[in-house]
Amino acid sequence: MDPVDDPAPGSIVEVSTLRMVAGGDGLGRLDDGRVVLVEGALPAERVTVEVTEVRPRLVRARTVDVVVPAPERVDPPCPELARGCGGCDLQYAAPASQPGLKADVVLDALRRIARLDDVPVDPGAPLPADGYRTTVRAAVVAGSAGFRARRSTEVVPVGSCGVAHPLVEELLVDGVFDDATEVVIRVGARTGERMVVAHPTAAGVVAPGDVRVVGTDELSRGRRAWIHEELGGHRLRVSAQSFLQARPDGAEALVAAVGRAIGDLSSDTTLVDLYGGIGLFSVLLGAHAPVLVERSAAAVADARVNLADRDATTLKLAVRRWRPTAADVVVADPARAGLGADGVAAVAGTAATRVALVSCDPASLARDVASLGTLGYRPLGVELVDLFPQTHHLEAVTTLELVEPERRRATA
Ligand SMILES: C[S@@+](CC[C@H](N)C(=O)[O-])C[C@H]1O[C@@H](n2cnc3c(N)ncnc32)[C@H](O)[C@@H]1O
Repeated sequence: MDPVDDPAPGSIVEVSTLRMVAGGDGLGRLDDGRVVLVEGALPAERVTVEVTEVRPRLVRARTVDVVVPAPERVDPPCPELARGCGGCDLQYAAPASQPGLKADVVLDALRRIARLDDVPVDPGAPLPADGYRTTVRAAVVAGSAGFRARRSTEVVPVGSCGVAHPLVEELLVDGVFDDATEVVIRVGARTGERMVVAHPTAAGVVAPGDVRVVGTDELSRGRRAWIHEELGGHRLRVSAQSFLQARPDGAEALVAAVGRAIGDLSSDTTLVDLYGGIGLFSVLLGAHAPVLVERSAAAVADARVNLADRDATTLKLAVRRWRPTAADVVVADPARAGLGADGVAAVAGTAATRVALVSCDPASLARDVASLGTLGYRPLGVELVDLFPQTHHLEAVTTLELVEPERRRATA
């Protein structure tokens, strides 16, 4: 194929890809050196692409044909992909290869953003790629649940979903959600409890009798609704508005990785659980007197129930409003934007000697690690937990240790 000097949207060119970037696209270069991000391409492939967007320093494209495939390329297993569903964007990579691809994305972010090239990144063990998701958010069109097409507002009705837990899939496919524009379906895989949260109203929802159904209009008027899930041998309450990790085996794997990061807790270890949610880490790690900081009222109410047998301090506060108290270890699990300046100051303000930073975005991970580095925290390694197989999403636990803890303690 002839080289194209200045491809316009719609033109067809051939590209060799070098690596995967955050978001799952394959990165290649055009003949003029411009970066091209290719949807549907794996590293080290030769692909024919259709250009979809042209900017001065960046071109976007989508794969139309694979000329030389990577060894890990497979046929996507889900029939919904061909119908336009944008939910699982990494299905063309063999599941066993996905943790390694994601580890490379984290290594790249650490190199480019934090200027660190010596932090080991462990891809972790793959988790089952089928029927795993116990929480799913879906759009609703004409009373039926659907997923958005990739990079589009168009909604594709759900005929089946290979990654949804069967108890979720049944509601996704058969549920009637008249009057709603969006639903969140959540189940306890080990308790069998199910819940549908419909936005803006649950007035037209038709679901089996065992399903707790609530509208966001009722929640905003003060109604409470929750289900339970069993994690690490504990029965945890999770309310309609509280965060819960998207799969129980993944939640347990994440807790195990955090446990490896911070080491064994003794009865007098002080643990601060920042962005603590319903108390997952404090409960499963066996903290005796954790300090949990969380801004969601629903999650704090759950945490108080889940930690009722501990000497826990549960603070309904935004992290930036918290006045840090001394701690031995910190677990910090912020939302996608990461710790930012406030979270970094909160972590460092504890003078904890060990920190487990849980991140779901490679760029914010690298930014937070760089910022903590300026305050004396050295990253020892990153461990990935592949909570979301078949998608580009990742979850990573970074272990950091305080260098010169004695000096910092003296000044804390
Ligand atoms: C990724 S979730 C983690 C929750 C919990 N660690 C878990 O694993 O179940 C992030 C949590 O941080 C809370 N959150 C987000 N921004 C916050 C802030 N600025 N201050 C305190 N909590 C916040 C959210 O409500 C959510 O519960």
